[in-house]
Amino acid sequence: MKNWKTNSWRKYPVKHIPEYQDKKELDQVLNKIKTFPPLVFAEETRHLKKQLSEVSDGKAFLLQGGDCAESFAEFNPDNIRDYFKVILQMSLVLTYSASLPVIKLGRIAGQFAKPRSAPTEKQGDNELPSYLGDNVNGIEFSEKARRHDPKRLFKAYSQSAATLNLLRAFSHGGFADLKKVHLWNLGYIKKSPQAKKFKELEDKIADALAFMDACGINSEFNRRLKTVNFWTSHEALHLPFEESMTRTDSTTGEYHATSAHFVWIGDRTRQLDGGHVEYCRGIENPIGIKCGPTSKPDEIAKICNLINPKNEKGKITLISRFGHDNVGKFLPKLIRGIKKEGVNVIWSCDPMHGNTIQSTTGYKTRRFNNVLKEVKDVFAVHQSEGSYAGGLHIEMTGQNVTECTGGAKNIQDQDLSSRYHTHCDPRLNADQALELSFLISDEIKKNSSYSKNAIQAAS
Ligand code: PEP
Ligand code: CO
Repeated sequence: MKNWKTNSWRKYPVKHIPEYQDKKELDQVLNKIKTFPPLVFAEETRHLKKQLSEVSDGKAFLLQGGDCAESFAEFNPDNIRDYFKVILQMSLVLTYSASLPVIKLGRIAGQFAKPRSAPTEKQGDNELPSYLGDNVNGIEFSEKARRHDPKRLFKAYSQSAATLNLLRAFSHGGFADLKKVHLWNLGYIKKSPQAKKFKELEDKIADALAFMDACGINSEFNRRLKTVNFWTSHEALHLPFEESMTRTDSTTGEYHATSAHFVWIGDRTRQLDGGHVEYCRGIENPIGIKCGPTSKPDEIAKICNLINPKNEKGKITLISRFGHDNVGKFLPKLIRGIKKEGVNVIWSCDPMHGNTIQSTTGYKTRRFNNVLKEVKDVFAVHQSEGSYAGGLHIEMTGQNVTECTGGAKNIQDQDLSSRYHTHCDPRLNADQALELSFLISDEIKKNSSYSKNAIQAAS
């Protein structure tokens, strides 16, 4: 790769990188992190890329989800378990409806750093640096908490390692066994309409497993029935940290980000001549690019070519996030611009980030119906453009939070204060996330390209 180094991004203009007062301390921390074990292994990343190439061919579906921002305060095993349960449930619903494998990619085990609209926050007469994520500073509105503290990177690394460790155990240690599907339900959603629908699915799966068992195929002999692949991702925003976690793969000599399997470039940092694009062009990992209303199709195509000069399938995922009123205005142009250049991409839909509003009670929220409308419109546009809607990117949690309004329980603006725990953007709770997956499965059933792909995937 021409003129690329793990630190070459430093020669380019970069946005949203925290300014640390104590640069010496930051360097000490980063030098220490360079000696820490990688969080993921290059071969795993290659495996994910191979699976993503199947999405690119329309033979699999990508489900990416998790917190907007992970926090030190919400770090506990029950939260990780509940999150994992919802991801398994959603994947099952989608796999069943599309008859396609679902690739499970968490926004977890490293999703800390946040770009913010303003560098400072004002409360009354007091003005302090904005909260930039728990790996940079604290959310409390005090001078001490808002200081950019390099040592927080150690804590974020260790939380990511412990989170990933538990997720790996769940994925391969028996928790994900299809025989245990009834254990994935969360207590608090047992009474919801989704729980009823999920129970119907459980029963169908139990019947299918009983039949397969009678044919001699069961999870004791077939690993694929009792384990899942679960991958991690986050926004590659904090480039000093990413640089210190970028390693050479000893088997191939290639560079890999080892902080996660997949990283993405945010809508605010995807400048063609910016440091974030420069960093991402040198690593082998699959890369996501967020595309919003200000994205120019030809610029996005240029970024794809720069990051993926060999036009490898599975390397680039374009994550559209236009907002529920804007899909028809922007997405067809983007699809056509990308097609014209012959660039291979996965099309994923983020129905969250273009739909953030202020509730009448003063909370940052999202209306479930708007989220749903964006997904539906994205499916319809891909259907008419002849492209494949291959993924969903959402902010969600396994906890019973009240952060997004609407959904089957019809959360109102007045309810938001009851369990509003997010450190950044409002997340779908487990109920809403599951509801969304049922609604998407209806879209998938309507969409002719899925039935065609499912037949091909099976053959
Ligand atoms: C995010 O995914 O957390 C985010 C900030 O999104 P976007 O870059 O699309 O605004
Ligand atoms: Co967000």
